[in-house]
Amino acid sequence: MEAIMKVARTHGLYVIEDNAQALGADFLQGDGSKQKAGTIGHLGTTSFFPSKNLGAFGDGGALFTKDDSLGKRAASLVNHGMQVRYHYDHVGVNSRLDTLQAAILRVKLKHLDDYHRLRQEAAAWYDNTLSGIEGLQIPIRSTFTTHIFHQYTLQVEASKRDSLKQWLMEKGIPSQIYYPLPLHLQEAYKDLGYQNGSLPHSEELCNRVLSLPMHTEMEQIQLEYVSEQVQQFFKA
Ligand SMILES: Cc1ncc(COP(=O)(O)O)c(C=O)c1O
Repeated sequence: MEAIMKVARTHGLYVIEDNAQALGADFLQGDGSKQKAGTIGHLGTTSFFPSKNLGAFGDGGALFTKDDSLGKRAASLVNHGMQVRYHYDHVGVNSRLDTLQAAILRVKLKHLDDYHRLRQEAAAWYDNTLSGIEGLQIPIRSTFTTHIFHQYTLQVEASKRDSLKQWLMEKGIPSQIYYPLPLHLQEAYKDLGYQNGSLPHSEELCNRVLSLPMHTEMEQIQLEYVSEQVQQFFKA
């Protein structure tokens, strides 16, 4: 983030942090001070989709900013572009958070640190039981941030990834590929002219990643079963 902010300052750019999977993470600055992810750029965004770290009972999201004028502008844009009722300063959208969702989130927000701890405990279990297996790479921990583990994503040899997914499915364990196709190869962005090979790292990861079950209510018996089955696959 320090490098990104520096580029932004040099060129007069705004930085929007997509914080949908990182809400609550601490970013460690070079001087050792901590800052919450999503509060470093000009705007932070998050998602309250039910599977997220702070999930509602339906769709929702939020923006964060320290800049009052950006905050006012955003609040107006999500409410049809109005500030004074039925007077429209901008062309906006209807992206208000339902009162019902807000009420649920207000209660859940108090437990956010517990949700993180529970995800981190589950991730530590997976780390301990799945490290050192040939052909399997557990998530790498960065030194400059804490990790929320919205997902616990393995990297698997591309030739084995789909069979591991199938193996887990046969054992009753859901796993998911986030994501199977990189942005530059999506039909929606075809006109930008990127092709297979344009972004080899993204493409390779799409062929290697597999996310294991991860949420705040993972029971010990479930964690044991998942890691045993992953171990079994690599022994077979
Ligand atoms: C990193 C990231 N950004 C944005 C989104 C989109 O969130 P929403 O569907 O609430 O707009 C997601 C949801 O999957 C996400 O994981």
